[in-house]
Amino acid sequence: MREVAERAGVSITTVSHVINKTRAVSDELTERVREAMDELDYQPNLLARGLRKKESTTLGVILPDITNSFFADIARAIEDTSFRHGFSVILCNTDDDVAKEITYTRALSEKQVDGIIFVAAGKSADQVRSLQEQKLPVVVVDRAIEDISADTVAADHAKGGLLATRHLIDLGHKRIACIMGPSILEPAAQRMYGYRKAMQDAGLPVMDEWIVRSNFRYDGGREAAIKLLSLPEPPTAIFASNDMMAIGAIGAAKGLGMMIPDDLSIVGFDDILLSAIFNPGLTTVTQPKYEIGVLATNMLLDRIENPQIPVRREVLDTDLVVRASTAPL
Ligand code: RIB
Repeated sequence: MREVAERAGVSITTVSHVINKTRAVSDELTERVREAMDELDYQPNLLARGLRKKESTTLGVILPDITNSFFADIARAIEDTSFRHGFSVILCNTDDDVAKEITYTRALSEKQVDGIIFVAAGKSADQVRSLQEQKLPVVVVDRAIEDISADTVAADHAKGGLLATRHLIDLGHKRIACIMGPSILEPAAQRMYGYRKAMQDAGLPVMDEWIVRSNFRYDGGREAAIKLLSLPEPPTAIFASNDMMAIGAIGAAKGLGMMIPDDLSIVGFDDILLSAIFNPGLTTVTQPKYEIGVLATNMLLDRIENPQIPVRREVLDTDLVVRASTAPL
């Protein structure tokens, strides 16, 4: 399909619309596409072509929580990019459950997908290793996996944790707590590292009770905040290491009659759409979600085309967006 598009001087999407009649295409472009297909003897039957070239023209995507729009944004970028290259996508949601992740890993392998984009639900090294042993191309996204040599795309989680905490310190806060994601997940550990480094750089002690491990979900953030706010000397600021937990923490504070940011400043991580429209707007760390999805898909397609290329590890930048959930002490 890509060769037809290049010869006809059109996009792969246009070729797909001409073949599948999914959108009106001008007579001129349709003629150019048809001529290119004839010249290249292109068989539009993807299944036939796939069988002939042992390709399914399908990519598998394993995500831990599709109810979190962070992953929905990434999935959207993967689907857009895959479609442009003539590939369909099978989306698997593991609910952060490693047992489900193992089931889906096997299922995608049996469906003979051409490659897999993998966001880990846990340590997950065994799952990725088993795919690699089957010569199935895999790109790891967002959550780097220890002891695995695989193409990886992620944001700079440690830098994001540093920026979030430094912002609170610059506002004059000293009693700064951290609601952490699941400690087995690399982004949670990296963001915690950034938090601790910012506190250390500022000469501020970190009390053990200021660190609460949670689950990257609304309920976890809410419960963690209730625990923190019931301390004899509660924090005046909280860095929650993802937006859903930060929004849960705001819900807990409001439930206790507190005003945000007057009584408590809160910073999140991800910059999902909800953070901008929430009241108050959430100060948070941006992740280039769409860019991560596009880059991961292109890396996977490169790996499918040429399994021998060197392993790539891409770290994309994070930044801080300041909104109404933080204020000076
Ligand atoms: O919000 C879900 C979290 O899990 C995000 O911060 C993302 O980085 C993933 O690790």
